[in-house]
Amino acid sequence: MSRLPLVCANWKMNHTASEAARFADDFVSRMAAHRDALNESVEIAIAPAHPALDRLGRSLSDSEIHLAAQNLHAEESGALTGEVSLSMLVDLGCRYALIGHSERRQLFGETNEDVAAKALRLQGSAVRPILCVGETLEERESGATLEVVDGQLSAVLDVADGLASDLVVAYEPVWAIGTGRTATPDVAQEVHAALRKVLSKRLGAGADQIRILYGGSVKPSNAGELLSQPDIDGALGGGASLDPEAFASIVLASLEPS
Ligand code: 13P
Repeated sequence: MSRLPLVCANWKMNHTASEAARFADDFVSRMAAHRDALNESVEIAIAPAHPALDRLGRSLSDSEIHLAAQNLHAEESGALTGEVSLSMLVDLGCRYALIGHSERRQLFGETNEDVAAKALRLQGSAVRPILCVGETLEERESGATLEVVDGQLSAVLDVADGLASDLVVAYEPVWAIGTGRTATPDVAQEVHAALRKVLSKRLGAGADQIRILYGGSVKPSNAGELLSQPDIDGALGGGASLDPEAFASIVLASLEPS
């Protein structure tokens, strides 16, 4: 089963709406030069900070590049100051939303249950979840990696069991995020294969269609090798994706895995 690679930028709390529009102009023109090669070979998405979603969406409207949100609240609406709902993301044309990013888990106290509630809210909607999972350095060193990522994935599948191929999983080892320390392709592949096994056990043959992205210090120099692994179906970029030239190189690497 061949899966269409997805390369997504997560800008985190970077780039204003004006900067996002400038990025889009530059990035779209770089991608236009490769339109034929890109067509139906890779999906591209960008997750800006919420205030830039509208402006970026307008800048990308003539392109095939999808808009993604970095987060949402599980409730549909209400007295939840500072939060953003699914219908707001739908209205802006978002195709994807990150849920369970390790920064949300570690810095904002999100639990597996919180993440599962967000997945359930997204189930059946126009916005597809990119569920982030990953272990800390301590967990890796104590040999708990597979147990941790299985727990993070299973918590979502227990609740949102109708997501099927709308689900995208992103394996992002916490020790590789923003550290310049990337998981080797073999280390990443091992975890991706284990995640695929969990998906197969839960979803049967449908698991073959679910894309599992790698994130954690993805750069133009390592993207090709990572993406050549059989269970790595794309990338979730952070720091390098803030620069249109570097993000374009990561996307192009997905076309020619080394
Ligand atoms: P870096 O690419 O900066 O390590 O960030 C990865 C990430 O957290 C993407 O969601």
